[in-house]
Amino acid sequence: MKKTILTGLRPTGNLHLGHYFGACKNYIKMQDDYDFYLEIADVQALTDNFNHPEKVRFNVFEITKDLLAIGLDPNKVNFFIQSKIPEIAELTVFYSNLVTVSRLERNPTVKSEISQKKELFGANGESITYGFLGYPVSQAADITAFHGELVPVGDDQLPLLEQCREIVRKFNSIYGETLVEPEQVLSSTTRVKGLDGNEKMGKSLGNAIYLVDDAETIHKKVMGAVTDPKKIRKDEPANPDICMVYYYHQLVSPKKQVEKVCQECKLGSRGCVQCKKELIAAMNLFLMPIQERRKYYEQQPEIVQKILDEGTEKARKKASEQMKKVKHAMKIDY
Ligand code: TRP
Repeated sequence: MKKTILTGLRPTGNLHLGHYFGACKNYIKMQDDYDFYLEIADVQALTDNFNHPEKVRFNVFEITKDLLAIGLDPNKVNFFIQSKIPEIAELTVFYSNLVTVSRLERNPTVKSEISQKKELFGANGESITYGFLGYPVSQAADITAFHGELVPVGDDQLPLLEQCREIVRKFNSIYGETLVEPEQVLSSTTRVKGLDGNEKMGKSLGNAIYLVDDAETIHKKVMGAVTDPKKIRKDEPANPDICMVYYYHQLVSPKKQVEKVCQECKLGSRGCVQCKKELIAAMNLFLMPIQERRKYYEQQPEIVQKILDEGTEKARKKASEQMKKVKHAMKIDY
């Protein structure tokens, strides 16, 4: 029997290179070896976008197309929409008794998100909503509703997984052995840096290259990428390790080319403009097959809808079986 893997994505924008190299690329390998559930977490997206429902709705379809475009096979991966699985909402209510408010307030991921969202939650988090503070509980429901054994996520999600494991242990200790403690699948790739040299590529940071970026956009973004600031003239030697252009060459250019870029940069025999032009070409080549596959789905939205409908139906079946066990354990199986 294949192990069950579950992961989720908030539909708030298109996938960028950070998502791709940081997590999604691994999914392509995993889809063959696991029973794979991929949640489009619209309910979670609403916790900090409750005032922008149209944005969340639009991005449910955008992100699904992005995920199909990178090569996830809908015959192997169950794509589903969180809000269409009422069992997740039910479990969230049951689990909320097993978590203290102070434990949620101490969750490092939640804490840092609250401090980043001052407009919504106040300068010191004084306007934090019940829903946002509680989303780790809902995420524990996401995972356990499908008996998720493995969760492939980046390091920023570790505190959420730990919180899920605590809920599982507490549930099992009170109601009897019912749920499994999920484990993290460490992604072999690391966090992808932004065009501005920031440690993290992110939508809100405005430093991302998206999988949907066209040639013109790539040109503009790469031309503006941060290079070694000490290099003024094109025949001056520079340090590739602090150059974002070299950094992205490592992601998308052939190995030989990467070595050449590194050597010539250090020697001063390569100008930055030339180097950027080569990166633009390599980046477009990398994005081309992804964008071509995406076009197929863009032209046939009914296929995307069908993939979501079928995946959601399978997910619903699995969640309702799990729900029976949970209700039985909690003695509410009237
Ligand atoms: N919190 C995750 C993120 O922001 C998305 C997510 C929702 C998720 N539900 C999940 C991740 C369940 C793993 C498992 O990226």
